[in-house]
Amino acid sequence: NNFLVIMAGGVGTRFWPFSRISNPKQFHDVLGTGRTLLQQTADRFEEVCPQENIYVVTSEDYVDLVLEQLPFLSKEQVLAEPIRRNTAPCVAYASYKIAKTNPEANIVVAPADHIILKEKAFEAKILTALEASSKGDVLVTLGISPTRPDTGYGYIQYVQNEGEVKKVKSFREKPNLTVAQEFLASGEYVWNAGIFIWTAKSICQAFQKHAPRLHEIFEAGSNAYFTAHEEQFVHNAYQSCESISIDYAIMEKSDNVYVVLGDIGWSDLGTWKSLYEVSEKDELGNVIDGNTMLYDVKDSIIKTPQGKLVVIKGLENFIVAEYDNVLMICPKDQEQKVKDFVADAGEKD
Ligand code: GDD
Ligand code: MG
Repeated sequence: NNFLVIMAGGVGTRFWPFSRISNPKQFHDVLGTGRTLLQQTADRFEEVCPQENIYVVTSEDYVDLVLEQLPFLSKEQVLAEPIRRNTAPCVAYASYKIAKTNPEANIVVAPADHIILKEKAFEAKILTALEASSKGDVLVTLGISPTRPDTGYGYIQYVQNEGEVKKVKSFREKPNLTVAQEFLASGEYVWNAGIFIWTAKSICQAFQKHAPRLHEIFEAGSNAYFTAHEEQFVHNAYQSCESISIDYAIMEKSDNVYVVLGDIGWSDLGTWKSLYEVSEKDELGNVIDGNTMLYDVKDSIIKTPQGKLVVIKGLENFIVAEYDNVLMICPKDQEQKVKDFVADAGEKD
């Protein structure tokens, strides 16, 4: 009775120009393994969840891409969103749909754009979490030991109780730098991996309690799910949804949250720096994916099309990235500017 809901509707603008609104990073083979991030996400749950219980929630525009990359999915397993409303509506849609026929379903919600190097360890953690969630009205998440005061993550403060499933004291989504530094120094926090485990019933109850408007909207669909009216219903429903992430809408507000800590080789491939960290480097600290002639180039990322010879002399700590019709050259430690570039380039969603 295990289900997997893959959230695959983000655009990943911090990873521009490699991640484009027309073709976001989850659909790319980022690490050159032969499988895209979305495919790797599905692969990872092979032993946990039967293929017919996988749902992918994504933008209408990416439905064909999803079906192409995961050909075992039927059209009904790809839930199309008419507009982007962040992850709370995405989770609500899938959860209320599953709950209609299967309220006891165990659901793992996973982002489509992460890397997990220790597959077996990951699987074990997921099974532990599933066991906990199937037994009680709890919301379980995976926690990762933090290595830097990153402001792009959720921070989880937990109780040092016995056993693998720790009670959560507080959940704080994307704190500012000062707070993140305090959290890190205290040693009481882990990062939220963004992978959630719960039953259909528990998450629907949490919506009812903490996001009553979303509950109303998606509960009202129970006559439409799995029928010819679903598409029309969803179109209307999304018009009334606020744009909010599951972390702000539910996780920060709930008091029945638990965390399973895991050394699973996790990385959110959110930014160029995170790609740099997980990639193999040459002896000068460069990550190179392209056809290059480099002279005195150090600690840089070069990601350019194979069809173009890229010649660089004298460059340190830079990102050089070309994709489609965009070439970006930016100091590696100023990558937070990438979001502004996307806006200035007029690439809107
Ligand atoms: N279907 C759908 N619709 N998917 C979406 C949408 C949407 O509107 N918005 C984002 N997603 C997908 C993304 O593609 C990604 O796979 C996942 O949902 C998470 O969204 P992000 O936008 O990447 O979230 P984040 O990285 O800022 O924060 C989350 O993940 C962190 C760990 O990576 C939070 O859960 C943090 O607490 C967490 O630390
Ligand atoms: Mg992310």
